[in-house]
Amino acid sequence: MAESKRSQNRLGALRESVKKITERLSDGNMNGMKKPDEPSREVEKLRIQIQSMEEEVRRLQHSRYQLDHANKQNEKLAITLQEAKAQIQALRDEVDKLTAPPSSYGIFSSLNDDGTANVYVSGRKMKVNLHPAIEPKALRKGQEVVLNEAFNIIEIKGFDAQGEVVKLRDLLDDKRALVTLHYDEEKVAELGEPLLGERLSVGDHLLYDTRSGYVVEKLPKSEAEELVLEEVPDVDYEHIGGLGKEIEQVRDAVELPFLHANLVSEYKLSPPKGVLLYGPPGCGKTLIAKAVANSIAKKLGHLTGKQVRSFFLHVKGPELLNKYVGESERQLLNKYVGESERQVREVFKKAKERAADGNPVIVFFDEMDALFRTRGSGISSDIESTIVPQFLSEIDGVERLRNVIVIGASNRQDLIDPAVLRAGRLDVKIKISRPDAHAAKEIFSKYIIQELPFAQTELDRHSGDARALAERLIGGTVDSMNAHS
Ligand SMILES: Nc1ncnc2c1ncn2[C@@H]1O[C@H](COP(=O)(O)OP(=O)(O)OP(=O)(O)O)[C@@H](O)[C@H]1O
Ligand SMILES: [Mg+2]
Repeated sequence: MAESKRSQNRLGALRESVKKITERLSDGNMNGMKKPDEPSREVEKLRIQIQSMEEEVRRLQHSRYQLDHANKQNEKLAITLQEAKAQIQALRDEVDKLTAPPSSYGIFSSLNDDGTANVYVSGRKMKVNLHPAIEPKALRKGQEVVLNEAFNIIEIKGFDAQGEVVKLRDLLDDKRALVTLHYDEEKVAELGEPLLGERLSVGDHLLYDTRSGYVVEKLPKSEAEELVLEEVPDVDYEHIGGLGKEIEQVRDAVELPFLHANLVSEYKLSPPKGVLLYGPPGCGKTLIAKAVANSIAKKLGHLTGKQVRSFFLHVKGPELLNKYVGESERQLLNKYVGESERQVREVFKKAKERAADGNPVIVFFDEMDALFRTRGSGISSDIESTIVPQFLSEIDGVERLRNVIVIGASNRQDLIDPAVLRAGRLDVKIKISRPDAHAAKEIFSKYIIQELPFAQTELDRHSGDARALAERLIGGTVDSMNAHS
């Protein structure tokens, strides 16, 4: 470019000189100056110079055109190259992917102070690094992670959806649990993040990862198990009114053998395996059974100086049956027959599990007459022909299950199969009758207490004495009840 400009300038200058010379020549001619050959030679030389210059300019212009063309070509080439490079990269990535060694999965356990993480890989605990793109705070206990060849965490996954089903035996602290695997094998498992805030109770079914030892999910229980409510009742004897004598009997039959097991075996006594509480509805049978469970736990706690938990397995007979009401087909009935037997077996199995640590277990069969009807009575179906023997065989085995006692309750003990009530089974029968006037007074006094917010007008009538008012209310109610009965 600069070159061609310079040539142009030079060309311009030359043209200018030729012009000037030509002018001068014509001036000289006019002035009669005679040296004709010299200037015309000069002019010729200059013309030739001009021509070569023009030639040079053309050449340069052509080169410039060629250069522009080459530049354009170059740009095109660069773009094509770029594209080819991207394609090669994509292919290389593909090849890398296809030839990469498989990544392993691990279960995340915890983070270390140095920024590394502890994971379980095929049952082995390892301390590994995190890929810089992994946010340590996003890692959850028991969660699956993907590890590369160097065992660095490169990806966070969810919680494994499969594993072994185990039962919660006990919570050791807020992070660990004692679980029962198959064949009653026991393990201490760690609670995975999803279970940390969860309310767990003994007997819950949990999903257990054998490789890492984490339990990560609470599973729904089978229908049969749902019927057995496991609760530690908070009813005390003081909450029960008017049943002093009956409570005494229950305590003798159930509590004493528990609390003084040494004396019982020293004197070669065989404690009752169970008691039957019978009587009209709503008079305190369930209440007493709960209070017994509670009281045994407290007293054993005092005696041993340890924290004792009592378990109360509440089996509600009619609820079991209601599932099948209205479905009278033989097929369904057969299904039920097998199911109810299994249910009874499950209850005793559960009782055994709970009692293994020396915890007292009360198995409470409410509304026993619904489940264990006299066989062949034709009142209900064939159910009792299989469920009663199942119950008998289980309760006959109870002596081998220390710390387990069966309490039955019924409004119609006359409908219960006699074999259930024979000696060595539920042979202690305690009647819970309707309260008489005295008992009714006691019951009312559990509920109508001086702390209630009585109406001021009523209080004024008793000179502000809430206790006297409560007593009068109870007395008046009992009197009017008596008058009506
Ligand atoms: N003796 C009592 N003292 C205090 N409260 C009582 C007494 N009896 C019954 N109650 C009250 O009545 C409720 C029903 O009693 P409970 O469930 O023990 O009766 P039940 O004999 O088991 O009846 P069902 O035969 O219908 O099962 C109790 O939760 C309690 O509130
Ligand atoms: Mg009841």
